[in-house]
Amino acid sequence: MTLRTATASDLDQIMALERASFPSDAWSDAMMAAELDSPHGRYVVDIEAGQLRGYGGVRAVEGGADADIQTIAIAADARGKGRGRALLHELLTSARERGAREVFLEVRADNPVATALYVSEGFVEIARRPHYYQPDGVDAVVMKLDLVGWAAARGSSDARGSQNRANFAPNPGNGTNLARVCELGEPGADAASAPTAAPAPSAAPAPSAASTQKGWC
Ligand SMILES: CC(C)(COP(=O)(O)OP(=O)(O)OC[C@H]1O[C@@H](n2cnc3c(N)ncnc32)[C@H](O)[C@@H]1OP(=O)(O)O)[C@@H](O)C(=O)NCCC(=O)NCCS
Repeated sequence: MTLRTATASDLDQIMALERASFPSDAWSDAMMAAELDSPHGRYVVDIEAGQLRGYGGVRAVEGGADADIQTIAIAADARGKGRGRALLHELLTSARERGAREVFLEVRADNPVATALYVSEGFVEIARRPHYYQPDGVDAVVMKLDLVGWAAARGSSDARGSQNRANFAPNPGNGTNLARVCELGEPGADAASAPTAAPAPSAAPAPSAASTQKGWC
């Protein structure tokens, strides 16, 4: 699996996965194109054998103290193998490199898989937005991560940051951007090295059913 910065040329494959992953509330092509083009964040794609298997994005204004996970999705037949966690790690590392100290996200209260991933990385629930997701009327769970603590728990954030900077290379799809290619190990290897899971907060969401629908997360 290869993680690299998304380019405009990835838009069609990203949108195909977007629509498959979030059938009731997929972003529009224009929204996604604007996200990919924004200098205030980073989108990453997971590529295998030339095919897009996942994508995710983080908004992290350079020098800002906080960041937001915008979205993350893995192809249905590639889930449960550590790819989502690897993608999330890449986004969090990017946010830290841009100076963020905290990361926020929103996730549907009926999405236990994504919630479990976030909690296991140390995200804690800080608020709920009742009936935020319409037309379904599902609550949004607002979560926050202490990114400085997360990076410290990873142990080698400084070394990894240096390595990543060394791996910057011209982006073949967009001459104005930079691409970072990150070769990862076997699926699951990254998950195995993840920091100890943080205890679920007492007010942790109690998702009622699995969902493949997206929140703003
Ligand atoms: C959420 C998503 C990105 C996770 O990606 P993934 O590659 O399947 O996740 P991973 O294999 O890296 O697993 C990471 C953690 O997620 C949780 N998880 C994964 N699959 C799970 C399942 N079937 N049931 C419960 N928890 C699960 C676990 O906490 C897991 O950690 P563990 O393997 O140490 O137990 C993926 O399921 C997805 O794309 N879902 C649809 C889109 C979506 O809901 N995106 C999030 C919007 S906020």
